[in-house]
Amino acid sequence: QATHLSDYRPPAYRVTRTELTFDLDPAATRVKARLHLERHPERDAGLPLTLHGEQLSLKAIALDGEPLEADEYEIDAAGLTVHRVPERFHLDTEVEIAPEANTALEGLYQSNGMYCTQCEAEGFRRITYYPDRPDVMATFSTTVIGDAEREPVLLSNGNPVERGALPNGRHFVTWEDPHPKPSYLFALVAGDLEKVEDSFTTMSGREVTLQIWVEEENLGKTEHAMASLKRAMAWDEQAYGREYDLDLFMIVAVNDFNMGAMENKGLNIFNSAAVLTHPHTATDAAFQRVESIVAHEYFHNWSGNRVTCRDWFQLSLKEGFTVFRDQCFSADTNSPAVKRIEDVSFFRTAQFAEDDGPTAHPVRPDHYIEIGNFYTLTIYEKGAEVVRMLANLVGEAAFRAGSDRYFERFDGQAVTIEDFVGCMAEASGLDLTQFMRWYDQAGTPEIDAHGEYDYANAEYRLILRQRTPATPGQPDKQPLHIPVRLGLVGTKSGRDLPLTLEGETLGSDAVIHLREAEQEFLFTDVSEAPVPSLLRGFSAPVKLRFPYGREDLAFLLAHDGDGFNRWDAGQRLAMLALDDLIAAHRNGVEKVMDTRVIEAFRGLLTAETDDRAVLAEMLTLPSEAYIAEQQPLVDVDAIHAARTFVKQGLATALRDDFLRVYRENRLDEPYAPTPAQIARRSLKNVALSYLMAIEDEEGIELARQQFEADHNMTDVRHALTLLTHSSRDELSEPALRAFGEKWAHDTLVMDQWFAIQVTRPQPDVLDRVKFLMAHPAFSLKNPNKVRALIGTFAGQNRVNFHRLDGEGYRLLADVVIELNRLNPEIAARLITPLTRWARFDEQRQALMKAELERIRAEELSPNVYEVVEKALA
Ligand code: ARG
Ligand code: ZN
Repeated sequence: QATHLSDYRPPAYRVTRTELTFDLDPAATRVKARLHLERHPERDAGLPLTLHGEQLSLKAIALDGEPLEADEYEIDAAGLTVHRVPERFHLDTEVEIAPEANTALEGLYQSNGMYCTQCEAEGFRRITYYPDRPDVMATFSTTVIGDAEREPVLLSNGNPVERGALPNGRHFVTWEDPHPKPSYLFALVAGDLEKVEDSFTTMSGREVTLQIWVEEENLGKTEHAMASLKRAMAWDEQAYGREYDLDLFMIVAVNDFNMGAMENKGLNIFNSAAVLTHPHTATDAAFQRVESIVAHEYFHNWSGNRVTCRDWFQLSLKEGFTVFRDQCFSADTNSPAVKRIEDVSFFRTAQFAEDDGPTAHPVRPDHYIEIGNFYTLTIYEKGAEVVRMLANLVGEAAFRAGSDRYFERFDGQAVTIEDFVGCMAEASGLDLTQFMRWYDQAGTPEIDAHGEYDYANAEYRLILRQRTPATPGQPDKQPLHIPVRLGLVGTKSGRDLPLTLEGETLGSDAVIHLREAEQEFLFTDVSEAPVPSLLRGFSAPVKLRFPYGREDLAFLLAHDGDGFNRWDAGQRLAMLALDDLIAAHRNGVEKVMDTRVIEAFRGLLTAETDDRAVLAEMLTLPSEAYIAEQQPLVDVDAIHAARTFVKQGLATALRDDFLRVYRENRLDEPYAPTPAQIARRSLKNVALSYLMAIEDEEGIELARQQFEADHNMTDVRHALTLLTHSSRDELSEPALRAFGEKWAHDTLVMDQWFAIQVTRPQPDVLDRVKFLMAHPAFSLKNPNKVRALIGTFAGQNRVNFHRLDGEGYRLLADVVIELNRLNPEIAARLITPLTRWARFDEQRQALMKAELERIRAEELSPNVYEVVEKALA
């Protein structure tokens, strides 16, 4: 059942134009399609025509106007074959589908009574018979017919060209999309929606109408998305020279959506959680997420739509590049240092874990069973890191020249990763052959670094060894081309020293190129003993080990010239302390707090800083998930105990400083999601969480006040989380009840209410998860609810999910089994925590594997089958 990259062939026939008519009905929508086809010049004449199609009921079929006889075509579960076709022809089909019965949320489905579509990657084949592959690009004309009252708004890609009334209270709109596109970019929306409208003038003077379509009650939640869209449009012009290419750009918010959003040409469809914001309902993090997703989908108009992927193995061509683009955009609009810290800490936790598990795959996989399983952290985030390395390797000017070349040369085409990297090689003159291994080799490279300072000769010798561990299907790995950005920080001066490498002066911050399995770098004229600051800005997605002592790390935390590495030094210092405490916990030895961590934090809290956002990050301990990632064998209880101990130790020692920082950073201005305000809120809230870690009476009072003041969701949610996670029911219960009643009408806020409760550390939380699954605001059919309740519990409440009686695992498996029938894509994603069984003790391994076996015994969707098979292989 697997599809292989090496089997790629162009299609036998291509579609030049597609004409669709939808006659909408919840149970029986009729879809008429006229496809204008011609033989592909690279393929033989006389081949049969095969079209994809799933769960369609064919009502009529005709070739060049002549109905086909039953023996002239064949239908199976995967599609339709017409045995004999001419070189050029048109094919008419009519099928019936049932949007209301579509719980997989792929193809045409209903959400809150409105019709919408999700076609990437292979959803279009659930709408009509079609060569549903990205290298078939056609212009589309789409007529949507609906009920004038229930569906006053009828949307599709491109520009509306005709509309009118029809008998029986029906009406129609015809849309014309002049840009050839693959079927995965098709979209249709119909329902009772309201819009907010704005406009943008492009750099060449095109007036673009911008619309955000929502249900009426959400009209007040679109302002931030609209502002973000306009900023993104301007940014893409300035940073990449890319301009929008239609007169209309639409965004629609839907409640039931498998992912964040989708870049359909001219009609982006968004998970409502990824577009709607209001100071009272969305946190700062949500505001920032909306900004970056709006930008991401908009940027796809060039990196994805105008230039698309030849096949789905190239998915990272558009996703890695577009994530890189949205990261740079967010860095430019907010605090670049914090953006990088957030992205990297997430990456090192979640992508490293993926790379280390049974579903590890390269940025460009070479086979898959279900492409829906490959919308992964590796394709998206590691893909973005690879593009970032390219950008740093070739330099800013060549990167821009290479991207201009890429967009110009391949406009309107479906291309490969080689085409992209080739443009960068041409523009820079660099040989990127070895670099291409980043796309084909799975696993996280590990670099072991050692350094020696030779005082007599003023030399610093740095030795780097790289190795990539084996991953499923890839036992042997080749050395990669790894850019290592570094500085040498002088221990006397506390400054970055000027660097001279092999006679070449490099400034005080340089990139060295590791290409061999082992390589030595000799820096000369090093006037004082340095501490090396390596992999600055996380210049490559690798694990770097260097035998830093605690003094070295405390020194870097105070003096490193690179802000990112200053943060990283603090994380490493905390990790050393945590390691000791984890060992102490396991051995039943009394835990002792490392005073160097306390002194380092005291230094941070008392130093003058103008970057509060970075300070908040520095004061945040590594998450339990990240700590787990660093351990050879994950002991969830020891990790939880050690981290809690450090947090309480810091809170006890630095209580007054945390109180002062809390008070100094309170705001009385009206809420705005500006970098300055966000920085203050996060610093203040970090301080509050330390105070609450020791349930300090004054801290409790402040948390209560903050909750009750009801200033904005960031503060309310943070306070509610702290109260809910405290050991005192008299703090948590009234607050949870008040919040739940106040927001019962707001589905997105209720998702937060679920997530806050299921992350409680108390051992009875599993009962609460079960109880909440029966809550009227919960539904297994809504992916946001499933993620908020089940996904959050299994992914973030580590101590309770990994209970030794296996009840956490059982609950997850039960949900997976039910979702396997309803929504296979979500079901497959939800399994992730169970696939990591190999990292745990034997008892937990056995329990986790038993649940995987129980899932395997079901009749499985390809999505779940592929993940479970890999997990048990
Ligand atoms: N292309 C979309 C985006 O990254 C995501 C589509 C996800 N589709 C899926 N079947 N998972 O913006
Ligand atoms: Zn994307």
